[in-house]
Amino acid sequence: MATNIQGNSIERAPIGVFDSGFGGLTILRDIRRALPHYDYLFIGDNARAPYGTRSRELVYEFTLQAVKHLFAQGCHLIILACNTASAEALRTIQQRDLPHIAPTRRVLGVVRPTVEKVGELTRTGHIGVFGTPGTIASGSYNIEIEGMYPGYKVHGHACPMWVPLVENRESSGDGADYFVKKDISLLLDDCPEIDTVILGCTHYPLLIDKIHKHMPPGVKVVQQGPIVAESLANYLQRHPEIESHCSRGGTCQYFTTEDPDHFSPLASVFVNEPVQARRVIL
Ligand code: DGL
Repeated sequence: MATNIQGNSIERAPIGVFDSGFGGLTILRDIRRALPHYDYLFIGDNARAPYGTRSRELVYEFTLQAVKHLFAQGCHLIILACNTASAEALRTIQQRDLPHIAPTRRVLGVVRPTVEKVGELTRTGHIGVFGTPGTIASGSYNIEIEGMYPGYKVHGHACPMWVPLVENRESSGDGADYFVKKDISLLLDDCPEIDTVILGCTHYPLLIDKIHKHMPPGVKVVQQGPIVAESLANYLQRHPEIESHCSRGGTCQYFTTEDPDHFSPLASVFVNEPVQARRVIL
């Protein structure tokens, strides 16, 4: 067991990564690529996905259950690899729950790091955001981007069919073409000056072939995985008191609230390695 400067032992545990379903794997994949030496514990709440069409109260309740479970497994740091949970539950968990349940542990989201990056990418200052109905209705991206870059305009567009397409393994079918094309047209018809579009849902990179196929050339598509990975690496450097609690074995354990026999084969494709998930009840 490792020791700190005073010679006291430090408990180390995996970094927790949470999403409503498969989408968080797109973030996990890039985090592991950038920071391969840490251990990770992933939970997908597939049994209750999608979160994006649920009430804010339920998203908060489900997310808090997952956070408490990951803390009970020893995690000191949790990444909410889910925009809906980041937009609708993170602030309350950070400000109201953490001081009581785990004052020395941390929960981070995916909205803030994405917003910090997007200012470098747009030329027109018109930024599109695709997200779940919950994320778009929360106005999180508008508040964060317009607060950080006064003068920029954010055009949010909810894509309620995209997550069900992924969760139901329809991401390469004709249905995906229909809905992706339609939502891209609706966003860009509304504001042709948009030159940068954030995929503000971690499931959407799983539709990336369709998105590239239907997005006009010249419009940048922002995927969050590499951005969140870079931001996490930076965070761990700046926070040795958290980093020292992250175990370093290069392993990854996968849990799902659904049937692991359904989860594992598709998850293996997304993370490009064999996955043997186990069932968890939150
Ligand atoms: N992948 C999640 C997100 O980034 C949630 C999708 C959902 O469950 O609706 O928003």
